[in-house]
Amino acid sequence: MSTIPTDSTRRRLLAAATTLGVAPWLLSACARTAGAPAATAGRSTSAVRRRLGPLEVFPIGLGVQWHPSGPQGVVDLYQSRTTRQGGVALIQRATDLGVNFFDTAEVYGPFMSEELLGEALQGSRRERAVISTKFGFNMDLATGQRRPGVNSRPEHVRRAVEGQLRRLRTDRIDLLYQHRVDPAVPIEDVVGTIKGLIRQGKVLHYGLSEPGLQTVRRAHREHPVAVIQNEYSMLYRGPEAQVLPLCEELGIGFVPWSPLGMGFLAGNVSATSRFGQQDFRAAVPRFAPDALPANMALADLVKTWAARKNVTPVQLSLAWLTAQKPWIVPIPGTTNVAHLEENVAAAAITFSTAELKELNAAVAAIPIRGARLSKPVLDATGVEAPPKR
Ligand SMILES: NC(=O)c1ccc[n+]([C@@H]2O[C@H](COP(=O)([O-])OP(=O)(O)OC[C@H]3O[C@@H](n4cnc5c(N)ncnc54)[C@H](OP(=O)(O)O)[C@@H]3O)[C@@H](O)[C@H]2O)c1
Repeated sequence: MSTIPTDSTRRRLLAAATTLGVAPWLLSACARTAGAPAATAGRSTSAVRRRLGPLEVFPIGLGVQWHPSGPQGVVDLYQSRTTRQGGVALIQRATDLGVNFFDTAEVYGPFMSEELLGEALQGSRRERAVISTKFGFNMDLATGQRRPGVNSRPEHVRRAVEGQLRRLRTDRIDLLYQHRVDPAVPIEDVVGTIKGLIRQGKVLHYGLSEPGLQTVRRAHREHPVAVIQNEYSMLYRGPEAQVLPLCEELGIGFVPWSPLGMGFLAGNVSATSRFGQQDFRAAVPRFAPDALPANMALADLVKTWAARKNVTPVQLSLAWLTAQKPWIVPIPGTTNVAHLEENVAAAAITFSTAELKELNAAVAAIPIRGARLSKPVLDATGVEAPPKR
């Protein structure tokens, strides 16, 4: 799926890199996607950072959402696979490439993704990393068994964080999210619990994932919300209407989840793709047989623009996100080191104002058929916490 970089592409990337203050290794990473020598690991990348609320991170993060597959394997929601050892090596490769922002959750695995992230980052890598993880689904915290619904009761949150610190092999969580708003617990009580953890030094900042807008305002009044994490990509532009303006107003950073549209924007899906029951997309309306043929117009647009910019569709999709606001940091998930290198290299790609306007308009002109999530999953998004009495 990579396009071969021509000399003019390299020149353009060099120009972009110079503007961004990007280290030369990033260009090597770009070239690597087309079979050139691998990026050199371990170079200083301190210049390549952007603000994410109170944090400073590399413009592209890494999503670590893996589940066990056999005794030594891991699998993502879309059936991409590697081994546990391969997962650890991939995270370490990410840190060597300058990535310092990692996203995971206790429910991913459950527990396994946090364990592998902790294993990969132990030692000096931990000092360079910004670890974000999430609590909030209703789980047996001893066994990881999932129960229906969510749970943000204060005692449950405090116990969850103890397990997370242990699995992540760290004494602090840089960014702790409530994974979904609990309709039974006032957000003031959740934030109050997190403030206690912050006072103890166990948590540094907190965020909310897929929250209701009033809940964000209430939470922010108790203690500043650092980051909101919602689905956002060229395939789903929902946050543009209200969530991004709210982030701008309150100075909150924004992290798009599924920034590659669950692989769709990478060109991994065709009009005739069908998904097995284990694949999360099997229950997602926009990937249904009646929706896919219409939605392929977007994949085609991305390919056309990628060719025009001499980058890959994935790189175009990630760069489109980072171009929307200087405080947006996508967290693409991958099990594949070559894909990781391709994704990281998107940090060097820029758009002119005219290009971005034209691309935004072209994306907006393509109606996407089918909801972004199945109804039960969708029902847990945009929830407002109950009032504090
Ligand atoms: N807050 C929330 O509720 C929530 C929900 C979902 C996800 N998340 C977070 O968001 C992260 C990313 O989301 P996601 O994994 O759902 O979706 P995504 O990043 O949009 O897509 C991931 C898929 O794209 C493929 N891919 C990645 N880079 C590629 C490349 N360069 N070329 C070809 N294919 C590529 C991956 O396959 P390969 O492994 O083969 O590369 C993987 O199957 C997760 O890891 C998780 O941390 C949060």
